[in-house]
Amino acid sequence: MSFTRRQMLKGLTGLVVVGLGAGGATRYWLGRTDPNAGHDYELIAAPLDVELVPGHKTPAWAFGPSAPGTELRVRQGEWLRVRFINHLPVPTTIHWHGIRLPLEMDGVPYVSQLPVLPGEYFDYKFRVPDAGSYWYHPHVSSSEELGRGLVGPLIVEEREPTGFKHEATLSLKNWHVDEEGAFLPFSIPREAARNGTLGRLTSINGVHKAAVELPAGQIVRVRLLNLDNTATYRLNLRGSYEAQLYALDGNPITPRPLGKEYWLGPGMRICLALKMPPVGEEISLRDGPVRLGTLRSVASAQAPDSEWPKALPANPVAEPDVANAEKLNFNFEWVGSVSVGVDNGRPPSLWQINGKAWDITDKTCADRPIATLQKGKSYIFELKNMTQYQHPIHLHGMSFKVIASNRRDIVEPYFTDTYLLGKNERAQVALVADNPGTWMFHCHVIDHMETGLMAAIEVV
Ligand code: C2O
Ligand code: CU
Ligand code: CU
Repeated sequence: MSFTRRQMLKGLTGLVVVGLGAGGATRYWLGRTDPNAGHDYELIAAPLDVELVPGHKTPAWAFGPSAPGTELRVRQGEWLRVRFINHLPVPTTIHWHGIRLPLEMDGVPYVSQLPVLPGEYFDYKFRVPDAGSYWYHPHVSSSEELGRGLVGPLIVEEREPTGFKHEATLSLKNWHVDEEGAFLPFSIPREAARNGTLGRLTSINGVHKAAVELPAGQIVRVRLLNLDNTATYRLNLRGSYEAQLYALDGNPITPRPLGKEYWLGPGMRICLALKMPPVGEEISLRDGPVRLGTLRSVASAQAPDSEWPKALPANPVAEPDVANAEKLNFNFEWVGSVSVGVDNGRPPSLWQINGKAWDITDKTCADRPIATLQKGKSYIFELKNMTQYQHPIHLHGMSFKVIASNRRDIVEPYFTDTYLLGKNERAQVALVADNPGTWMFHCHVIDHMETGLMAAIEVV
């Protein structure tokens, strides 16, 4: 595939002034007349100093006026049109995690598009087939770019109103910063060879130990998004509450109780229905024993909710024909024999899929896909984790259905874009290869992805 740089910035200064003029708000209508045409955004990536540690500045990079970035919203079935402007000192792209879209909009450098250079812009434009909680992030120099804050929520609203009257988006991220807010290394080879390099400071919507106010007595749709590079949050709540799980990674499930804790790996999302306690009471949102923040009940004008909303409508994902599907094996391995060290600016090669390590410095890797699927056919992927570490396995362009695991009880098969594959777990996921293109298939622990745990799967 070849690219031209026809999208050089023209008349950009004017655009930027408009975008920043509205008190830093980056969301605005471009004045399209068709009310069904969807939303439009101008999204600027730029350096932004944030105060994560009180009294100290952290030189973050952000989409819009905050890190995590502007929450983008669009209605299911409509077009999302984003003019993305790069005001960073580095090349970048935007990938729309979990959205089933055409390859040209997928944001993968040298596969979907050329990197967007400093001062350039790129117009992303695609229809969103599925409702749910998604997110966006670069796919270039990911440890640093995501690590510095280039992540943001993308909410696709259901076509019809759901039974939820209130909702909140909570984006979780750990920051690689020290006590003075200065950045620490985003990826350390020794850590990349294990669970990945963990940030030290937790945050909800960019605030350490945030207190989020929610209406007392009401049932709130709480969207929890793991936008972190590395951390798997063992989410649990403490306090007097009732909570039901309504969706996993964008896709609705039959509502069921949250249970003791939910392991939310990097890139994964859940939708909870949370019944808030009376005014003044608090619920703590925790990662295992660690408090991430507080959900505080504040006065609400509405009478307490008593009825749980019904299940969210299913997304139009093609049902795989499991009985006749072709089986493909994917083995995830740790390459113990390779010495850990940085070899002339190249990241070490620590992980492999089916005996092959992805090299992020080699632009031609995607020319050698590890599997070729026939368009329209059903497949079962047998995912085999041969390592002592867990890997959130993510596929671009298509959703897959989790059907079996030798380690956990799959309560009900469900569609997702990311499956948290436990240590030594074998799981089966099924899909219809209905989106032609070359799709990245990788672990979403960013430093695993950058040290080998990525591959391309082609659909022809
Ligand atoms: Cu969030 Cu390549 O993915
Ligand atoms: Cu993705
Ligand atoms: Cu991994």
